[in-house]
Amino acid sequence: MDLREELEASLGELYSIEQEFGGGGMSRVFLAQEKSLGRRVVVKVLPKELTGGVNVDRFRREIVLAAQLQHPHIVTLLSTGQVAGVPYYTMPYEEGRSLRAHLRESGPLPIAEVVGLLGDVAKALAFAHERGVIHRDIKPDNILVCGGAAVVSDFGIAKAVSEAKDQPPPHETGESLTQIGMSVGTPTYMAPEQAAADPDVDHRADIYAFGITAYEMLTGRPPFCDSSPRKLLAAHLTEIPDPVLARRPDTPPALAAMVMACLAKEPADRPQTAKELLRVLEIVQAGEQRAARAQMQRGSLARQLALGLAALVAVSILARASIIAMGLPEWVLPAMLVAAVLIIVAVVGRAQGIARAITPIASARRRE
Ligand SMILES: Nc1ncnc2c1ncn2[C@@H]1O[C@H](COP(=O)(O)OP(=O)(O)O)[C@@H](O)[C@H]1O
Ligand SMILES: [Mg+2]
Repeated sequence: MDLREELEASLGELYSIEQEFGGGGMSRVFLAQEKSLGRRVVVKVLPKELTGGVNVDRFRREIVLAAQLQHPHIVTLLSTGQVAGVPYYTMPYEEGRSLRAHLRESGPLPIAEVVGLLGDVAKALAFAHERGVIHRDIKPDNILVCGGAAVVSDFGIAKAVSEAKDQPPPHETGESLTQIGMSVGTPTYMAPEQAAADPDVDHRADIYAFGITAYEMLTGRPPFCDSSPRKLLAAHLTEIPDPVLARRPDTPPALAAMVMACLAKEPADRPQTAKELLRVLEIVQAGEQRAARAQMQRGSLARQLALGLAALVAVSILARASIIAMGLPEWVLPAMLVAAVLIIVAVVGRAQGIARAITPIASARRRE
């Protein structure tokens, strides 16, 4: 029996399996219908190669911790169990696509979008870290973009898998241990302390992976792109990444500085909490909004001046024609021009006042 058949045999009463998603790196991912509630859920099953000899109790302990995370920017776990001795877990189906797919299609993202999505991820990290849960595998594949917002999936799964595998059965070879190493993080996004297999990895490893993900969103590529995992791990430990600003010059300097600080080799040199990241992102967002507002006002002022000039030309032609046709005295032309200028100044001033009054309302609504 293959895994899908085993899944249907064990879970058939609760779920009807509809299709398998491709691309699962450390799991097989299925779309299913939860029969009792008629809703779509995603069922993830860890592959046998990874979980051969898995300690299901330890896996459950970690997964129960992750299941406590209920937050708008975290994909909640719904249930967990075993199919043919292999752990599975379910979660809500999130309509949208992964940040990986989004980056593949759109390349480097606009600054405002980067700041918005990173803010969502930082909120998710702050919430989980305050509750003692580290993600350990932050990367674009584990961030789903739904309706313009980011939701982080697979919270605590990397830890659950590694805990479950901490005591591999004696028949396991070095090769499968390497596979386990791969499962507790992804080389491209792995913090130096994870790469060095430091047992005291803490939440600041997530802050490093957040920095790599942000760098990729801004520049289209992560800082270290070597194809061999070994060279990648060495790069995290020793290589200094190119500055973000060298690869994406229009990055707001505060954002570029934050991303580069996340990539510090020493955890103590990084921003220490996800809340710190949020504070910087809020400042950058406010700056972007101010710049957009100023640009809008500059644009509308130029438009109004052009209109005013056209009106002045029209008034002087009209006045000249009236002087000739109706025999009006010569002073009518300057008088009409002065009147026209006064009217234009009053109209432009009033329009700018209205624009200033409504802009903060519009930007506050966008923030909601
Ligand atoms: N909760 C979800 N809602 C919708 N699609 C999902 C969900 N979780 C995973 N997927 C889809 O399944 C694919 C593989 O999942 P992924 O998390 O990348 O697997 P793995 O963690 O094993 O690498 C994702 O790219 C995404 O398209
Ligand atoms: Mg994943």
